[in-house]
Amino acid sequence: MSRLIVVSNRTPGKGPAAGGLAVALRKTLAERDGFWFGWSGRLVDRPDSEAVFEDIEGIKVGKIDLTRDDHHAYYAGFSNSILWPSFHLRLDLATIEGHWYEGYRRVNAQFAQALLPHIAPDDVIWVHDYHMIPLASELRHLGINNRIGFYLHIPFPTVDALYAIPHHNELMRDLSRYDLIGMQANRDVSAFTEFADHQSPSTLSGSPLKSVDFSRTEVAAFPIGSDPEAFARLAVSPAATKMVRRMERALGDQALVLGVDRLDYSKGLPQRVEAYEKLLANNASLRRQVHLLQVAPPSRDTIKEYQETSDTLDAMVGRLMGRFAEPDWQPVTYVKRAYGQPSLAGLYRLARVGLVTPLRDGMNLVAHEYVASQDPHDPGVLVLSRFAGAAEIFEDALLVNPFDTDETAEALRLALNMPIEERRHRWERLMAGAHDHSVDRWAESYLSRLAPTGQNGQPAPVRDVLYLDSVA
Ligand code: G6P
Repeated sequence: MSRLIVVSNRTPGKGPAAGGLAVALRKTLAERDGFWFGWSGRLVDRPDSEAVFEDIEGIKVGKIDLTRDDHHAYYAGFSNSILWPSFHLRLDLATIEGHWYEGYRRVNAQFAQALLPHIAPDDVIWVHDYHMIPLASELRHLGINNRIGFYLHIPFPTVDALYAIPHHNELMRDLSRYDLIGMQANRDVSAFTEFADHQSPSTLSGSPLKSVDFSRTEVAAFPIGSDPEAFARLAVSPAATKMVRRMERALGDQALVLGVDRLDYSKGLPQRVEAYEKLLANNASLRRQVHLLQVAPPSRDTIKEYQETSDTLDAMVGRLMGRFAEPDWQPVTYVKRAYGQPSLAGLYRLARVGLVTPLRDGMNLVAHEYVASQDPHDPGVLVLSRFAGAAEIFEDALLVNPFDTDETAEALRLALNMPIEERRHRWERLMAGAHDHSVDRWAESYLSRLAPTGQNGQPAPVRDVLYLDSVA
């Protein structure tokens, strides 16, 4: 089997992996020869052109340093103040500073240069997420004609949002340098196809941009998942059980409603608090009977829009407390801290309701992990945003429009009152969905499409065309 090179902005660290991306890829790479390549997390004045490799818990990881200025333009700037909000249809929160594109491109070129000496002819290269869209172009310019795949972990934007992104046509041309583009959901493939069919309109700077040729690029949905068996085991592990016991003591008879999200405006946290407030306002009998625990580790907190989301949430939770708390009862616990997977698995298992209501989300692995952690005899209910990729998989969740806080409040009421038979019935089908879309199957199906082995176990031929033209 050919070696696998995984490339992403972040690389796995020591200890338990945090984000879904790290969890998913670490497992895949542990089973194949190859390495992971990404940013070291270090900012230096003069980055070495050579990557430094180390062994991290059995996985070979190559890392490069970046300059502070490049990193700012590439990460906080182009990736997270332009691409992230636009792809999540939050143009109101985007900061369109076109010059960040240069830093974004420079970093991708630096990645390509540092990766080049480590690529063997048969290697399959799998590039992850919006930070790295130009990487295949940069590698092709350096003469690499290996199979290169791209996987987008976040939603693909509608055409109008895409047109608002500076250099969107170059980015789309960059995507056409990949052999396979994987998306989370059918919705994303449709949006991509719409762009590919219609292409870009005229701009101020001139006539319609040259159309992009996608004839050599395959685009398909590969919904990512979790490791449901591992989560099911983790949820009854001693560490998880310790958390369950602790929480049971604190909660008494109250039913737990749980949210776990990075503190990001795409997660719909203010709307969620508003929905919960409406639940308590409209159903006096639920007060003292229910408790919302929102875990929200801070994220990208150098960016103004993230600080503002955090401030908004502080104010809303404070208002909720002032309105409903009593000396001996609090309706909500809000924790701005990350927890390890065992503790989370315990919390998921205990929660009567998993409240997963992003305004827009690529997949949302919390939904998968919540389902996998349930007690089959007494499972909780998943309340899920219809705008998460996970909604295409979990039709038996209570699907809500997260912008409609009355609807979410009503879904919470239904979930809290749902009879055990219906909970079991729904959960069995949700769990079947989590199994069908496990992270193992995701990686296997993506990689077998990217690099199918031909007859006699020989690798499929590599791409025979070199891209010598410059990015127009
Ligand atoms: C999302 C993105 C990932 C990213 C993660 C954490 O899940 O799809 O690429 O790594 O958020 O964000 P951060 O900016 O901290 O890497």
